[in-house]
Amino acid sequence: MPAEFFSEISNHATPPTYRFFDGAGWKESTSAATSDVTSPIQGEILGRLQVVTHQEIDQALANAQKAQPQWESTPLHQRVKIMHLSADWIRHFRGYLASLLIKEIGKTDLEAQGEIDRTADLIDYFADEVQSIRGETLDSDNFPGFDKGRLAMIERVAYGVVVAIAPFNYPVNLAASKIVPALLMGNSVVFKPPTQGGISGVHLTRLFEKAGVPQGVLSCITGGGGDIGDYLVGHSGVDMLAFTGGSDTGVHIAKQAGMVPMLFECGGNNPAVVLPDADLALAAREIVRGAFSYSGQRCTAIKYVLTTESILNQLLPQVLNNIKEMVRMGDPRSPETKLVGPVISPSAAEKILQAISESVGLGAKIEIGGKRKDALVEPTVLTHVKSQMPVVAHEIFGPLVSFIQVASFDEASEIINSSNYGLQASIFTRDEGTGINFAKNLKVGSVQINGSPQRGPDHFPFLGVKHSGVGVQGVRYSLEAMSRLKPVVLNKPQ
Ligand code: G3P
Repeated sequence: MPAEFFSEISNHATPPTYRFFDGAGWKESTSAATSDVTSPIQGEILGRLQVVTHQEIDQALANAQKAQPQWESTPLHQRVKIMHLSADWIRHFRGYLASLLIKEIGKTDLEAQGEIDRTADLIDYFADEVQSIRGETLDSDNFPGFDKGRLAMIERVAYGVVVAIAPFNYPVNLAASKIVPALLMGNSVVFKPPTQGGISGVHLTRLFEKAGVPQGVLSCITGGGGDIGDYLVGHSGVDMLAFTGGSDTGVHIAKQAGMVPMLFECGGNNPAVVLPDADLALAAREIVRGAFSYSGQRCTAIKYVLTTESILNQLLPQVLNNIKEMVRMGDPRSPETKLVGPVISPSAAEKILQAISESVGLGAKIEIGGKRKDALVEPTVLTHVKSQMPVVAHEIFGPLVSFIQVASFDEASEIINSSNYGLQASIFTRDEGTGINFAKNLKVGSVQINGSPQRGPDHFPFLGVKHSGVGVQGVRYSLEAMSRLKPVVLNKPQ
């Protein structure tokens, strides 16, 4: 069944070359250029993606613009039905899609299946939630100086064409989290998957197409960010941009795009603060889970721990013990492997090692790990770390956690607040009131008390401040972000 269902999306060579979808059909680019998708597991080429031309981007955007008004005027219950059907198709192909993720981005079986299940549930939730989004009316006489002479009827309408750019670490889920709210609110979407994760992205597009998304309403264009990114995001046909990826890329896109609405989730460098009254066993478990899940390649991963010397002396042995129990580095296809598989490429692994070695040069000490083989980076714990060292100053997308010893918890707040990033922070304390008070002083999107940073559950608001993002995601928040208010004012002379 997968072969038949997905037959049009590739040329069936070994390895296959995947086609792009311009909203009207599955095509090979006239550029004749492709980019390789290489598995991080054994370096095998899994497939090739088209590098589309500027004219093909123009065409996808033109198709999207043409199809959008009709799509927005399609009854909501029909759009909802198509999205529920997409979720059903995703469930139907669960095993197949998970196996693609394992090979393409090196997730373990559990992580890959988790991403697929979560995506189907997310789509259903979006499709249910959108039905409770409604406009409102406002009377004019609430404002001083006005009588009842005006009535504003305020509707939510689509922006038009949304460009959705997804990252490699959740190429299905973080694609759907943009595509689905945009479509449900009546936008058309030009989807740009990551290169690594692009095979999964092309398959996802096919599922939406087969579920009944009409021609032109959704396209999937492929090519490296360096080749097509600037042209796409700066295109005059784009009405809104939704992006997840690194902070530097986010800042660059924002400059190229100019004055269009944006919903950006960028880098994170999330701290965990362990207060003196914390349940250290809980904190140690959450630190390990938070730092090493999917090899630390989550923007919500814990990257550094702030605590005082006496707590550190008790906490560190527990963290190291937990790593022995909870983490086993290896091939993600093996059931023995726990949390740490390969990072996305050997060159990404090398960058992680460089940040470690530069930090060690500045005084950090490796407690465990610190080496790599190909794309496998050992789970690494550093102590004697300072906030200016590369492992904390930058987002390191790998299985690495740093311990910073502070003299006081005010110093911990200062370190967190002086970071360029501001996605999430965790506070471990047995006194929830203390945790809430501490949270109030932190300049981050969300604070987790007694838990590691995370995006889910997916209807919670998810946002970053500073270089960690713009706008708010989460089911209702994403639906609102993918639409705008349109007041029509009835002037009624008294
Ligand atoms: O890095 C992407 C970010 O959204 C992480 O999501 O669910 O792993 O917290 P999650």
